[in-house]
Amino acid sequence: MTIQFDVERSAGQNADGYHEFRLGEFSFRRDEFFAYITWPTGSHMMSVDAFLRALQRDVAWDFFYGIVNFDGVFGTVNHYGTVDIFAGRYNDSYRKAELDYSENVETLVIRETFKAVLSDWTNESFDPFASPHETGSAFGVKNGNNDAAVTRQRVAAERMVGLPNDQQPRTTEAGYPVNRMFADVDQTEPVVEVEPGFEDEVAAFSLFAYLSRSNVTWNPSVVSVCKDSLACPTTEEYILPIVHGNDRVEWFIQLSDEITWDVEDRDTGAVRSRVVMKAGDVSAMPADIRHQGYSPKRSMLLVWENNSGAIPEAIASGNAPTYPVEF
Ligand code: PHB
Ligand code: FE
Repeated sequence: MTIQFDVERSAGQNADGYHEFRLGEFSFRRDEFFAYITWPTGSHMMSVDAFLRALQRDVAWDFFYGIVNFDGVFGTVNHYGTVDIFAGRYNDSYRKAELDYSENVETLVIRETFKAVLSDWTNESFDPFASPHETGSAFGVKNGNNDAAVTRQRVAAERMVGLPNDQQPRTTEAGYPVNRMFADVDQTEPVVEVEPGFEDEVAAFSLFAYLSRSNVTWNPSVVSVCKDSLACPTTEEYILPIVHGNDRVEWFIQLSDEITWDVEDRDTGAVRSRVVMKAGDVSAMPADIRHQGYSPKRSMLLVWENNSGAIPEAIASGNAPTYPVEF
């Protein structure tokens, strides 16, 4: 069965050539430089490049784990089937002034609306997944689209990478050249001598070579799945376009270079710590914080997620701790 849902889009374009959208009581409008959001108790504006980078992640990750803050005011909370869209809910000042607002909507409805906004507001010069150094401008009047980039599918291996039919296009011929910042990464693949009969089951690959060919930033790919344990490496440059408020513990292994993380209280935004991770460092982000990473050079990060659907409730009800280990 196909469920039909009509995105609420203005009949015509505004003076700058963009459509306007509605989702419940929220409205969305862009001009040359800014995205404008309104809701019954207030309004907000964001630089449109930052807005589109955040929107791209929210859409591509299907609302991710927990909270996706576009900035200190606007964002979404994933309830895995429905999504809250909010303004000011995780902002102490908005809460105290009682200006915060949120609505719960079916995932399908917000997904289709956000996809339509992303498609309409992204000009052909702009790739929201790319490092700012590797894309043109998001600004200006409506100029074409970049649907090829914004509908890019998140890379997910069919089998362990390196095995036959892993479905991993990762060669220069397939359009994945080594990134300019990873020119020094050794491209040799490990030699594995497989016992006859096991050629289809035993393999190894260089994760560094694999990641050196990533053409996106801040977009973890699932390269291995073992029950609920997901290994999601990614390449990072500039700023994580969202402030992620997790509903579970999340581990980071810094594989190369350096990322600085600003860590805040998930609900109020109060500063909790600043974590500088250098190559080889491992950290666990607690389940009651929100974080945003800064990567001055393109770096490789392994994000390790526990995908179990039981965790958010166990943590929210106090049956599981917000931190991962007791020393
Ligand atoms: C995170 O929120 O933990 C996160 C998201 C995207 C990344 C890295 C980390 O690329
Ligand atoms: Fe996170």
